[in-house]
Amino acid sequence: MNRLKVMTIFGTRPEAIKMAPLVKELDKNKNVESKVCVTAQHREMLDQVLDLFNIKPDYDLDIMKSKQSLTGVTNRVLQGLEEIFNEYKPDIILVHGDTTTTFVSSLAGFYQKIKVGHVEAGLRSFDKYFPYPEEMNRKLTGAIADIHFAPTKGAKNNLLNEGVEEKNIYITGNTVIDAMSTTVEEDYRFKNEELNNIDYDNKKVIMVTAHRRENWGEGIENICKSLKHIVENNEDVELVYLVHLNPIVKDVAEKHLKGVERVHLLPPQDTKETHNLMNKSYMLMTDSGGLQEEAPHLGKPVLVLRDVTERPEGVTQGTVRLVGTNFDNLIKNAQELLTDKAVYEKMSDAINPYGDGKASKRIVKALLYYFNLEDERPDEFR
Ligand code: UD1
Repeated sequence: MNRLKVMTIFGTRPEAIKMAPLVKELDKNKNVESKVCVTAQHREMLDQVLDLFNIKPDYDLDIMKSKQSLTGVTNRVLQGLEEIFNEYKPDIILVHGDTTTTFVSSLAGFYQKIKVGHVEAGLRSFDKYFPYPEEMNRKLTGAIADIHFAPTKGAKNNLLNEGVEEKNIYITGNTVIDAMSTTVEEDYRFKNEELNNIDYDNKKVIMVTAHRRENWGEGIENICKSLKHIVENNEDVELVYLVHLNPIVKDVAEKHLKGVERVHLLPPQDTKETHNLMNKSYMLMTDSGGLQEEAPHLGKPVLVLRDVTERPEGVTQGTVRLVGTNFDNLIKNAQELLTDKAVYEKMSDAINPYGDGKASKRIVKALLYYFNLEDERPDEFR
C-alpha cells in the first residue's frame, strides 16, 4: 500500500485545538500523507488556533456567515466537501467531537464511501436537546464512523452499549491534554496587557465563558446577573469573561457587565492566552465542554453552567460541579468556593481523568493498525 491518505477535517476553535496535536503527529509519520481541510464554521476564532500551531490547511471551505443557522452550516459544508472529495479522495477522514462540521463531514464522507475516524467519540448526555445540537451530532457521527477514538473508558462503554464493535474502539485519552503540554507555561507573560495587569497572587480570579445555544436568552441573562452580584459582593474577586463573538451572547454580556468594577470583558483569546489564564485563575464558571476537560488538568475547580454534561468523569472525580443557570444557585455555589477553603481544596485536588498527553500518538498507531500498516494495537489510556 502507498502512504495512507488521511484528511483531518475541522471547523470551529475547539475542534482545531484538539486536532492540532494530531495533525502534527500525522505530519511526522512517513506512512501517512496528511491533508487538512477546514470548513471555517468559525473564522477568526479558528484562524487564531491555526496560527498558534502553525497549521496551513490544504483546503478551506470558508463557510462562516454572521448569525449562521444550523441548516446553512450543514448545506455549505456538505456541498463544499463533495467538491473536495471529487478532487482528492482520502482513504480516511478524521473528524472531531460534536459540532455540525463534525456530523456533516462524516455524512459527506459516507456518501462517497470514505472511511470515517471519530476522535473524541462516545460522549453522551443521553438528552437529545442538551447540549443542542451537539448530543445528536455526536451520536450521528458515531453511527457513521468506522473507527472510534474514545477518550475514556466511560465513552467506550457508551459505544459498546449502542452496538459498536469492540475491535473498532480505542481508548486514547483526550488530545486536548496533548495540546496543553505545549501551551501552559509557569512564568507566562500575556500578549494582552489587561491580563498582565491583574494581580493573580492577591485576587481570586474567576474565568468565565458562556456561549451555548441552550443557554441563549434567560440562561445567559441569569449568568450575567449572577456574575455581577458575585463581583460586587466579593472585593477580592476579579472576573475575566472571554465573550464569544456571537452577537446573541455578546450583547447580553455587555448589557449587564460592561463598566462594572473588577470585570474584564475580553474577546475570545487565543489558545495559549486562554490556557495560561486558566492556569493563573482561582476557579472557572463555564458552559464549555472543553474547559471541563482542561481545568481538571490544572487543578482548577469548575462550576459548569449547565444541567447535564456528556463529560461525567470530572464530576465523579470532584473538580467539576454542575450548577445550571439559576441565579440563586450560581451565587450559592460560587460563594462557597470563594469562602470555604476546605471545599476549594477538595475540588482543586487534581487527578486528570481525561488524558495523559499521549492520545495523538495512540490515534496514529491505531489508524495504521486498522489499515494493516502496524502489527499491534496501541496501548490504552487508563
Ligand atoms: C459552535 C459549535 C459548538 C461548539 C462551539 C465552540 C455547532 C452547531 N456549534 O458553536 O458545538 O461548542 O462552536 O465555540 O456546531 N462567530 C464569529 N467569528 C468566529 C466564530 C463565530 O463571528 O470566529 C459568530 C458568527 O456570527 C457565527 C456565530 O458566532 O454565525 C455562531 O457560530 P457557530 O459556529 O454557528 O456556533 P457556536 O455557538 O460558535
